Amino acid sequence: MEGRPTPESMLEALDSAKRTALALIEEALAEEDPAGVLESIRLRFLGKKGEVSLILKSMGSLSAEARPAVGQAANATRDAIESALARAKDTAEGAALDRELRAPPIDVSLPGRPVELGRRHPVSRTGEEVVRVFERMGFKVASGPEIEGDFYNFEALNIPAEHPARDMQDTFYLASGHPVAATLHDGTRGPEPGEVLLRTHTSPVQVRSMLRSPPPIRIVCPGKVYRRDSDLTHTPMFHQIEGLWVDRQVTMADLKGTLQLFATSFFGKDTRVRLRPSYFQFTEPSAEVDVSCTLCGGSGASRSEMEGHEDAGQGNGSIAGKPPQTGPCKTCSGTGWLEILGAGMVDPAVFEAVGYDPDTWSGFAFGMGIDRVAMLRYRIDDLRMLFENDARFLDQFP
Ligand code: DAH
Repeated sequence: MEGRPTPESMLEALDSAKRTALALIEEALAEEDPAGVLESIRLRFLGKKGEVSLILKSMGSLSAEARPAVGQAANATRDAIESALARAKDTAEGAALDRELRAPPIDVSLPGRPVELGRRHPVSRTGEEVVRVFERMGFKVASGPEIEGDFYNFEALNIPAEHPARDMQDTFYLASGHPVAATLHDGTRGPEPGEVLLRTHTSPVQVRSMLRSPPPIRIVCPGKVYRRDSDLTHTPMFHQIEGLWVDRQVTMADLKGTLQLFATSFFGKDTRVRLRPSYFQFTEPSAEVDVSCTLCGGSGASRSEMEGHEDAGQGNGSIAGKPPQTGPCKTCSGTGWLEILGAGMVDPAVFEAVGYDPDTWSGFAFGMGIDRVAMLRYRIDDLRMLFENDARFLDQFP
């Protein structure tokens, strides 16, 4: 029928477009999800190049008398298709909602899949347990910054610059000019004066605590410390807990009694404590402190050797067919003792540095390695495992 469209042919085309569209919409409603089909119908008839739109566009060729009638019919056709589409969309949505409501409900009887809870790191747990034992003896917890000034970490602890004792605690220095807080949150001074470094031990917290409050004082200070060390038994960061008890007439006997009570509370009632003479700049006299080996009970013999001895002839403690393992205990290398801390009576030079009168006050101090105590507690043989963050390792500590 090419050639100029006549008003009649256009009215006919509009009528046929409307009937086709309404029939297609009706059909679409039979689909499971008619949204896509309804949209394609809309495009086919009402889109920019849709059938009805094209008819509207070609009206320019009609005579002025014919135009209103065709225009009206075109608008009516567009409105009819539009409202049929809208109704169909509503119907489809209602049906979908209905289906959903009629579907079987969620099966709440299925067993759940709970998120596994995390757990405390063995070093954190050990630190907290050590603190708890000392809290029962009346110690309060104190803390200090990990970025320290030379004065607190060394000078006030009677370790002057150039002193060879500094070699044992080589550390990381911060570039000069590194911004540091002039005042800490507790009101004490920041790391200045002197060079700024990562603290090598928790002993500077002694200095800060004594500068902050007059005697008597009884504190423990757990925290991270840093040294330029890295091998099987040393990591550049590790954990210590410092202890300090200053009062009138505190003696070495108080030190030993306190540590003995700690050892039996923490490692078990049969644990013994031994003090060996040692040297620290900030204590006089000084001691290294050992506890009887947690594995061999202080005998120095490997476990199966002990059992073989006690239950001679019964074969306990050995795997059938294999000779019992003999030799020195691996944990204490056969010595029967494990070193856990350094300690001593606070040196008068330290009291003078913080303004305590050494003729009136006396006290003891100690510094314990928390990681080492955790290794003994949980029988871990490689220090680095504590810091690798391997969940297969950490999951073993309930
Ligand atoms: N600060 C020492 C160190 O890290 C340990 C220590 C020894 C601390 C004796 C003390 C002490 O308080 O009295 O090697």
